[in-house]
Amino acid sequence: MKKITIAIDGFSSTGKSTLAKQLAQKLQYVYVDSGAMYRAVALYALNHKLIIDKKLNKEILISHLPEIKVSFRYNELLKASEIYLNGDNVNTAIRTMEVSNSVSIVATVPEVRQQLVELQQEMGAHKGIVMDGRDIGTVVFPDAELKLFMTASADTRAQRRYDELIESGAEVTYQAVLENITSRDHIDSTREDSPLFKADDAIGIDNSNLNKEQQFEKVMKLVKSKL
Ligand code: DC
Repeated sequence: MKKITIAIDGFSSTGKSTLAKQLAQKLQYVYVDSGAMYRAVALYALNHKLIIDKKLNKEILISHLPEIKVSFRYNELLKASEIYLNGDNVNTAIRTMEVSNSVSIVATVPEVRQQLVELQQEMGAHKGIVMDGRDIGTVVFPDAELKLFMTASADTRAQRRYDELIESGAEVTYQAVLENITSRDHIDSTREDSPLFKADDAIGIDNSNLNKEQQFEKVMKLVKSKL
């Protein structure tokens, strides 16, 4: 069967990765979480003390870029890909609030974006891929056959993210999560290089009032129309 590229963009915590994983599993496509790649670079910057009081030392980070190797490896037990930074599994380490609070700043650096976009384009060279992020339909795969742009109210998104973090044992307040989400929305959509916006040919999906199954059904109809 013909293979296509599915690009899913949208604000933080709109359920992009849940939908992308459902689609990849159903279609037997590769799933790539591009946000995890930016998070891995942010983790590197934090580990190397390149971010202090939310201030990033851009020049040093840029000079370290040739040493920053981000990759995915499939975990047979989990039946999912996990992200590696210079050979270390950082799948859990990239999900802390500390990384969430630093990643948008790291993602404003054009040199970082260039390095990660090249990798993403290589991963999608043979189609049969679902990638989620902020610039997938606009920059990474502007020719993707199906582009989705996901939205939901900030409150809905913060509540979902808060529930996930609490379930994973993190100690956070709802207010801190809401502030992180609104601050990232602002930085992601106003940065100069590859800001988050809906591509003209992307289909908007507001899932504030849709459950996962309803959303998946709606999107599968769109996928079938493209195959
Ligand atoms: O999807 P996420 O929330 O894990 O992404 C983390 C951050 O990475 C997000 O705030 C912005 C940045 N990002 C980006 O700039 N471009 C992408 N394609 C994916 C993520």
